[in-house]
Amino acid sequence: MIKRVTGTQDFLDITLLNFIIEQTKKYLKLHHFSEIIVPILEPTELFKRSLGVETDVVKKEMYLISGDENICLRPEATASTARAFVENGIQTTPWKVFTWGPMFRHERPQKGRYRQFHQVSIEVIGTNAIAQDAEVIALLDGLFSKMLAFDSYALLINFLGCHEDREAFKVELRKFLETHINEICDQCKVRKDTNIMRVFDCKNEKDKELYATQAPKIIQHLCSVCSTEWQELQELLELLSISFHVQPTLVRGLDYYQKTVFEFVSGNLGAQNAFCGGGRYHQLVKIVGAREDQPSVGAAIGVERLLLMLEAIKDRLPLPQPPAIQAIIPVEPAQKPIAMLVAQELIKHGIAAQTMIESDSLKSMMRQANRIGAQHAIIIGPEELAKKEARVKNMTTGEEQSLKQTELVQFLMK
Ligand code: HAM
Repeated sequence: MIKRVTGTQDFLDITLLNFIIEQTKKYLKLHHFSEIIVPILEPTELFKRSLGVETDVVKKEMYLISGDENICLRPEATASTARAFVENGIQTTPWKVFTWGPMFRHERPQKGRYRQFHQVSIEVIGTNAIAQDAEVIALLDGLFSKMLAFDSYALLINFLGCHEDREAFKVELRKFLETHINEICDQCKVRKDTNIMRVFDCKNEKDKELYATQAPKIIQHLCSVCSTEWQELQELLELLSISFHVQPTLVRGLDYYQKTVFEFVSGNLGAQNAFCGGGRYHQLVKIVGAREDQPSVGAAIGVERLLLMLEAIKDRLPLPQPPAIQAIIPVEPAQKPIAMLVAQELIKHGIAAQTMIESDSLKSMMRQANRIGAQHAIIIGPEELAKKEARVKNMTTGEEQSLKQTELVQFLMK
């Protein structure tokens, strides 16, 4: 047997997935976001430059195309959206767009973590207003709580300041790490010299405790502009009645962030508890080739993690019901063509129908009609064929009646 690639999934029932995507699209369009599609194949350089060569995604998790390592499967869509903004010469800002589709990261698979997964990626390119960050966060909170009916999740936020703030903070942090060099793990010792802010992502409990309780906090090292913006963001969220927790060790795994960063997390997801993450980024548009920076903000929602959360509450959701199906049963092979024509006629009028075309006994075709959950069995034998009629059996009540074939559509539409 040929098995699927590790870390990928077959989705055999996509009712819930479609529900998430449709609700999200509807909601984003109400907030005046337009849907775009960007390629799955992108130049590897795009992610090296934007996410950062020292990030786990670029260093260890990229799917490079064999034979042309300059092309890769995208690990995320923010850099692609920034590229599309520049390459298509978009002039009207803020450019409010979203896209959804598969992303690829060669990670160790576990619950909620896949090598091929799906994101809805939402971006506002060309906006300096910190109020936009509050609006994006409020929009996501409304999507999760109202449109998708989640009730157990938390919003974590932090503020990484501007470039200058972070450079000054890194000096402080390095001093702190050097003072505690014998207490930190080997990976943090390496990160101290390669990508120092990522020490805050350490999974080691002892290190985490040390950073949470004793390490310097970036929000206490902000310049006056950033400090005002950080205050404004918190005030706006409070005004909009969004509950949040400030998590000073939240830095996010991609290098392009500055100022606002946030994550929505749920206790029901296990170790991979973030189902949405985002923040502000200013240099990305310039990094991918524009002459000027564009202050921007965005987020991506992990669709598989939403699915895990929604599976538990799906009975409460207004999931669309599949249309009632009519089973058309030719009693003998000679009635097969008319049965197929009747099915075509019903489908033409928007009535779902399936012809039982396997030449079988009437009994087994009726059993099959039952198995597919047919609303009616529409039986056509030699007598019905001759009279241009059909016997219609209600599969719930067992009631049966004969109808002209021309009356079927009207009867079933009732
Ligand atoms: P990210 O935090 O790397 O951010 O991913 C966003 C979300 O995608 C995560 O919170 C998680 O739910 C989901 N996700 C990530 N990796 C996996 C995986 N291997 N398996 C399943 N789900 C996963 C970004 O990608 C940024 N582009 C977000 C952003 C948009 N920032 C600004 N704009």
